[in-house]
This record gives sequence, structure tokens and C-alpha cells, in this order.
Amino acid sequence: MESVRSSYPALADGFAYLDGAAGTQTPQSVMDAVCAAYRSGIGNVGGAFPASRRSDAIVAGCRAAVADLVGGHPDGVILGPNMTTLTYRLARTIAGPGDEVVVSRLDHDANVRPWTQTGATVRWAEVDPVTGELPVEQYAELIGERTRVVAVTAASNILGTRPDVPAIAELAHRAGALVYVDGVHATPHGPVDMRALGADFYATSAYKWSGPHIGAVVADPALLETLRPDKLASSPDTVPERFETGTAAFADLAGVTAAVEHLAALVPGGGTRRERLLASMTAVEQHELALFAVLIEGLETMPHVTTYGKPARRTATAYFNVAGHTPRQVAEHLAGLGVNVWNGHNYAWELTGALGIRDSGGAVRAGLVHYNDRSDVERLLDGVARLA
Ligand SMILES: Cc1ncc(COP(=O)(O)O)c(C=O)c1O
Repeated sequence: MESVRSSYPALADGFAYLDGAAGTQTPQSVMDAVCAAYRSGIGNVGGAFPASRRSDAIVAGCRAAVADLVGGHPDGVILGPNMTTLTYRLARTIAGPGDEVVVSRLDHDANVRPWTQTGATVRWAEVDPVTGELPVEQYAELIGERTRVVAVTAASNILGTRPDVPAIAELAHRAGALVYVDGVHATPHGPVDMRALGADFYATSAYKWSGPHIGAVVADPALLETLRPDKLASSPDTVPERFETGTAAFADLAGVTAAVEHLAALVPGGGTRRERLLASMTAVEQHELALFAVLIEGLETMPHVTTYGKPARRTATAYFNVAGHTPRQVAEHLAGLGVNVWNGHNYAWELTGALGIRDSGGAVRAGLVHYNDRSDVERLLDGVARLA
């Protein structure tokens, strides 16, 4: 832990960073990779000169790294500014009037509104507001022969719920529908195998796993060949380039590759980068869940605290309110004690609506990532206890 934590310069400010679900800090190696790209000279891609070739190599390296992280194919990695922008683009390419789309109230709004605004008929999967689970059985009713897409999250960004995506995907595929999985919250918390999930599309954002502010959507290149997004007449028509608009943030893409390398090296071991990632991310999941058991038990035993959701499979993400204090007041109190947490709906618009707390300011979110330690958890619990 010491060597992992010391690789993150920002952690030296003494704060307990429990805001990772909204974006992680970056290790020195990522900053160095971004600087090195600029220092070496980079050009736009596809040119005849060395600086352009360096950008070509950065883009190819980034696609390979993201593919390794999620178990996809490098030629199916679409890169862009963030998950929301890419999802809007793909949604209007994939679905439209005459189609049906199935969305869930567990999802972050970035995997809801892009689909509901396509003009397709919308079917809603409901959440159990007490457990925070997304029951699979309802999907048999929701999916039909006109279903074009089932959009579902691999993990809720406020409750941490990990729904049974493979079972939902099986029902979708049986009906000939595509499955668009939001992996933005799930990716930093454990190993990812998009094929095992049954994801035709898997979306992720590097800034949630120690990288720069870059998003990616990964799909089978053969599937992407069948889709025709709006694009400039002059831009490449190849896959995956035809899904990418404008000039990429090349230096940041070098940082994304460095972030994947950083994750792959969290625990010692050999093998391919994909194998090292699976080993590292398995260790990350164990570390986070062991700490989370202390965090959630501590919160649940405080009479002045209400926690939301109790899903069977979850990430290390807690969502709670404190009697007599607004979520903002709790976050401000904790900030004063050197603890970073988020307050509000956190864009889980439908879910906070279903929980009945959206209009009253949502709740407080404290989430763990691999660089959090026991002292971070103890400082949170101590700070919340003081509000009794
Ligand atoms: C689960 C989930 N999905 C989607 C998003 C949106 O990602 P981006 O900021 O890359 O658009 C977020 C961001 O917080 C998220 O937590």
C-alpha cells in the first residue's frame, strides 16, 4: 500500500480521497507519460513525418491497452472525450423511431437519456428501492422482437450494485437485441471481461481508473462495421476511426496507456499485460471489499445514519444520509476534517428518484478505490460519528 500510495503525488496533501467514484487521482507515471508525449513532439495522425508517426503509435498503444483492460479487441476501441459524449453518438447511430430500447433506473443518466432521446420506444427496468437490486426476471417481459438495445450498468455509481449483466444479456441476445454496458463505475473495482458479461458495447472512462479525462467504448470490430455514424465526408471511414470525431487528445491517450500499465503492476507477477491486469484487479477487489466491510458496518451501526441499498454483489461504494444534516452539510463537515466525499444525486437521476431523495439533495457518497487505506475509512467514520 505504501508504494502504491506514494506513486500518487496528490495523496500527499493529507486528505482522505473517498471521492474516487467521481474521478481518481493520477500516479506520477501517468503525468510523466503525458509530459513525455508533448516533450517528444507529436503531430496529427497519418502524416509522413516522425512526430505524426509518434501520434499514430500513441493511438494504437492506447487502443491495445484499453482492450487489455476490458478483454476486448484493439480494433474495436473507440476513443473520445468521455463516456457521455460517446454514448450519445452511438445511441443515435444504433437506435431510432420504430425501435424499442430497454433502460434501467439503476443506471447513471449517461446510459439512460442518450437512449430515451433517440425517438425509440422506451421500456423501463425497475429497481428494488430497499435492496438496490435490479431484478433480472423483469427483462423477460421488457425485451421483445422490436428491442434494439438493452442498456444496463455493470455497477451503480451510488449504491455499488452489480446487477446480473450476463443473465440480462442472454435474454437480450435471445431476442436479437444488442447489449450496451456502462462499465464506468465498475471498471476500477475489479477484473473486467466484457465477453463474459455479454456486452456488445462496453463503456469506460479512464479518469475513474487513474488515467486522464478520456472515455472509451469497446465493441467487436465486426459489429462496428455494420454501423454508420454521422461523420465528415473527409474523415476516415475505417473502424473504429469513423466513430471518432475531430482531433484526439493524443498526449492524454499516452496517459491512458500509462494508467493501464500502472494498474497491471499493482501486484507483482508475470505474464501478458492482460494476465497481470486480471491478477491486479482481483487483488484490488479484495482490498476494497475488506475495507468496505469496516466502512459499511461502521455506518450501519450508527443510529443517526441511514444507508441506502444492500445489494448482494456490490462495489465498495456507500450512499448514506445523516439525521439533522443535509448531504451538503455532511460533505462540508467532512471536508473540514480532511475527508473528500460527494453529495447529491451524482447523476443517478432515476435511482435517486426511485429512492425518494432526489428532490431533498440526494445523499452522501463515500467510495473506495485501490489507493484508499484503513485510516481513510476511520477518518470518515470518526467524522460521521461526530454528527450524532
Ligand atoms: C456509472 C457512470 N456512468 C457514466 C458516467 C459518465 O461518464 P463520463 O464523465 O465519462 O461521461 C459516470 C460518471 O460519473 C458514471 O459514474
